[in-house]
Amino acid sequence: MDTLHLPTLLAAALLFSSSLALTFDEEATTARRQELSFEHNHHPTDHVHIDIDIDIKIQNPRLLTAHKALHALKDALYSDPNNFTGDWVGPDVCAYNGVFCVPSLHNASESAVATLDMNAADVAGYLPKEIGLLKDLAVLHLNSNRFCGVIPEEIRDMAELYEFDASNNRFVGPFPAALLDVPKLSYLDIRFNDFDGPIPPELFQRPYDAIFLNNNRFTSGIPETIGKSKATVIVLANNELGGCIPRSIGEALETLEQFVFTNNSLTGCLPVEAAHLMNAAVFDVSGNALTGSIPPALAGLYKVEQLDLSSNMFTGDVPGGVCQLPGLANLSVSYNFLTREAAECGALDGNMGRSFHDEANCMGQSRPMQRTADECQPVVSNPVDCTKVEPCGWPNWPPERNTSHHRHRFSQATKSREHE
Ligand SMILES: *[C@@H]1O[C@H](CO)[C@@H](O)[C@H](O)[C@H]1NC(C)=O
Ligand SMILES: *[C@@H]1O[C@H](CO)[C@@H](O)[C@H](O)[C@H]1NC(C)=O
Ligand SMILES: *[C@@H]1O[C@H](CO)[C@@H](O)[C@H](O)[C@H]1NC(C)=O
Ligand SMILES: *[C@@H]1O[C@H](CO)[C@@H](O)[C@H](O)[C@H]1NC(C)=O
Ligand SMILES: *[C@@H]1O[C@H](CO)[C@@H](O)[C@H](O)[C@H]1NC(C)=O
Repeated sequence: MDTLHLPTLLAAALLFSSSLALTFDEEATTARRQELSFEHNHHPTDHVHIDIDIDIKIQNPRLLTAHKALHALKDALYSDPNNFTGDWVGPDVCAYNGVFCVPSLHNASESAVATLDMNAADVAGYLPKEIGLLKDLAVLHLNSNRFCGVIPEEIRDMAELYEFDASNNRFVGPFPAALLDVPKLSYLDIRFNDFDGPIPPELFQRPYDAIFLNNNRFTSGIPETIGKSKATVIVLANNELGGCIPRSIGEALETLEQFVFTNNSLTGCLPVEAAHLMNAAVFDVSGNALTGSIPPALAGLYKVEQLDLSSNMFTGDVPGGVCQLPGLANLSVSYNFLTREAAECGALDGNMGRSFHDEANCMGQSRPMQRTADECQPVVSNPVDCTKVEPCGWPNWPPERNTSHHRHRFSQATKSREHE
């Protein structure tokens, strides 16, 4: 997925308009229809004679099954204002709008439905169980529609599914665990829906390349397994995740390039292990309740371009090493309770197109637009010492007193991890 590395994708990740026009009534009706369909697995009787005719016309059993699935989907639509499925008639499913066929992986002389692309079709409805019959489907794009209800468990039957994008819909329920059984899935995008409950730990043990869960209502914490992830992009922004950022995150050092945890309810210290993420270009933990000081070890994030620590409860100083990171394009520490910053930080702003934001901190007269002394006093006089708190702290940090050893020890630790 080459496009994954474009920063524009990430910007888009956080910028769906959430103005989906599906009334509560429509949603309730549609959800009820999905329930009924799941209970009785009914097929409207007026389709039976058509099916017999189609059976004769479609010789290829793969396309016959796909025909069943696509018509079940069409029947499950409550509204199709752009007539997206208007031409979903007749036996030739490969000619249907949004359907793309390729020679089957199992028999090159048979066509198979490989892609269903309904992005921005603006249809309303639910996903029927029969969606699982699309066993040859590699790409399923349902982005920006008004699908509601749950994602049916039958999705686990999609043995070839590689890319699943159900973003910007009204899907509900817990994390769709059946997706964890889809063997080839690599790109998982369910952002901008109404999923709730915890993120299953198994998610990060699957070999996904990209995980977009932002703008849902996931609760509980970030599973410890996040360190096992092989993903290049993990976006958990705009959920209701609490607890600390697991120290294991540093173990994802080889692959993780962009992680965005903004706008959750994360607490505790920022783990020093996060500084192991040598390939991180985007590091965003803004909009949480992180405490303690900014780990000077973040100066090890050599590739970071966007570093956003704003809107937390950080105290202490902004380490000079962080402001001197070579790839930095945008650093924000605003809306914290920081009392000092290294001279390198102020020098960053406007230098070679880079931006630096430090407003709404506690640096008094030395910087513009700071918090008042009254606002600062309660937090600044009670700083959290991350070396003393547990959990969510850095006990045994720094590992030894001689600071010029740090970087050396650091790369040693990294190497041994790589060789494991
Ligand atoms: C929907 O599309 C079909 C096939 O293209 C067409 O026959 C039909 O008239 C269209 N319906 C509307 C309401 O535009
Ligand atoms: C491959 O598909 C062709 C055309 O449908 C069929 O005749 C042939 O029997 C299939 N081969 C196998 C091994 O299934
Ligand atoms: C975080 O939340 C604020 C306030 O609700 C919102 O303005 C901002 O756009 C959110 N940030 C992102 C990246 O979605
Ligand atoms: C830097 O980050 C801030 C806060 O996330 C954002 O508002 C701004 O657009 C970014 N600037 C650049 C140049 O990327
Ligand atoms: C710290 O380590 C460096 C490099 O190993 C060494 O040159 C220096 O003398 C040490 N300083 C102290 C105070 O031990």
